[in-house]
Amino acid sequence: MKVLVIGSGGREHALAWKIKQSPLVSELYCAPGNPGMAALGACVDIPAGDIDGLLGFAKENKIDLTVVGPEDPLANGIIDRFAEEGLTAFGPNGRAAQLEASKAFAKSVMQRYRIPTAEYAEFSSADEATAYVEAKGVPLVIKADGLAAGKGVTVAHDVDNAIDAVREAMVEGVFGAAGSRVVIEEFLVGEEASILAFTDGKTVIPMVASQDHKAAYDGDQGPNTGGMGAYSPAPVITNGLAVQIQRTVLQPCVDGLANEGIHYTGVLYAGLMITKDGPKVIEFNCRFGDPETQVVLPRMKSDLVPVLLACCNGTLHQQKIAWDDRACVSVVMASGGYPKAYDKGKVISGIERAERDAGVMVFHAGTKHHEDNVVTNGGRVLNVTALGTDIRGAITMAYAGVRQISFEGAHFRTDIGHRALARHS
Ligand code: AMP
Ligand code: GLY
Repeated sequence: MKVLVIGSGGREHALAWKIKQSPLVSELYCAPGNPGMAALGACVDIPAGDIDGLLGFAKENKIDLTVVGPEDPLANGIIDRFAEEGLTAFGPNGRAAQLEASKAFAKSVMQRYRIPTAEYAEFSSADEATAYVEAKGVPLVIKADGLAAGKGVTVAHDVDNAIDAVREAMVEGVFGAAGSRVVIEEFLVGEEASILAFTDGKTVIPMVASQDHKAAYDGDQGPNTGGMGAYSPAPVITNGLAVQIQRTVLQPCVDGLANEGIHYTGVLYAGLMITKDGPKVIEFNCRFGDPETQVVLPRMKSDLVPVLLACCNGTLHQQKIAWDDRACVSVVMASGGYPKAYDKGKVISGIERAERDAGVMVFHAGTKHHEDNVVTNGGRVLNVTALGTDIRGAITMAYAGVRQISFEGAHFRTDIGHRALARHS
């Protein structure tokens, strides 16, 4: 089989790494890929947003399976376009991807199908949103409705901050059209975890739970980022909770969408807050999480490719997925300055040294080739990932890997996995 992976981050490197292990795969292509992915397959210089270009490439090269990493092409209907041409592509179609691309849509689905989530109201008028904030008082969470590259959410602990967030989204247009409508939510208290699930629109098979670390600095301090690291399993998700989440969140969501004529296939990602009243949905995403994928796929013992195909062709009920009991931890090495402005082009050394240790994998998140070197090319640069017999062992190995790698200005959190450790001690 010929497989094409779309995207260029750590998530896509992990996908390509896992797909490449399948005996079903004869050729692997990545568009646009990165230097880590180039070691696994052929990188094709087509951006993830260029749907016409990707479609042309897939047709010409008779790609048997296309796997889409990021949300934007999904929301823009890449799966629909591939399907029109008779091509198999993994991910939800454009209507189904609205579950991530419109928070108001996602909230309305959750409300209709009684999926536990924060109470909310939605607004298309800044004056009405402001009046609501003043009447409700804080804490409140203000969310731009549309896709805002992870930046559209403000957790406001004072009223001025909440009103500023409304003004930035709705009056100043900081998020463009994505912010012309906002959702204002009740603030949930608890511990966060992510559950990603495979679905063919009917059957839902959850993957093992994981947790990412969104704050930039140790102790969950500092600005929000795309994620500074992740670990799996997430001990906050007990076996009982996993069953409850399947029954109260994942299956009702897929069934509810089907009831509305929306056939949701691919990965359904539930970002959850485990509150004292049980798990509640913070957000749905329509794709693999980043960096959650980097700690979930290394724990998947089964071949990923038949599962992806089964999601596309409606036979997921025939699949059984086996998971490794070991723990996986991934530490993000970021560019100096990230998540604010940062430099690119810094030479990276030590990746091979880090990987010499069996069990350490370095997924490339923001790198490129320059002359004979691999250099930094993004905020999040590398995901140094390790499997260990338990979380403590995986943490030790991942940081041993991190210590082998250097580039100017590199920074990383030193406490990835701390919540899991606290639960174990
Ligand atoms: P999102 O982009 O929707 O994942 O939100 C980003 C982060 O904001 C989440 O990971 C949570 O930490 C926080 N957040 C979002 N919604 C809520 C909520 N209703 N209550 C508490 N925290 C929230
Ligand atoms: N780790 C958060 C996300 O993938 O959206």
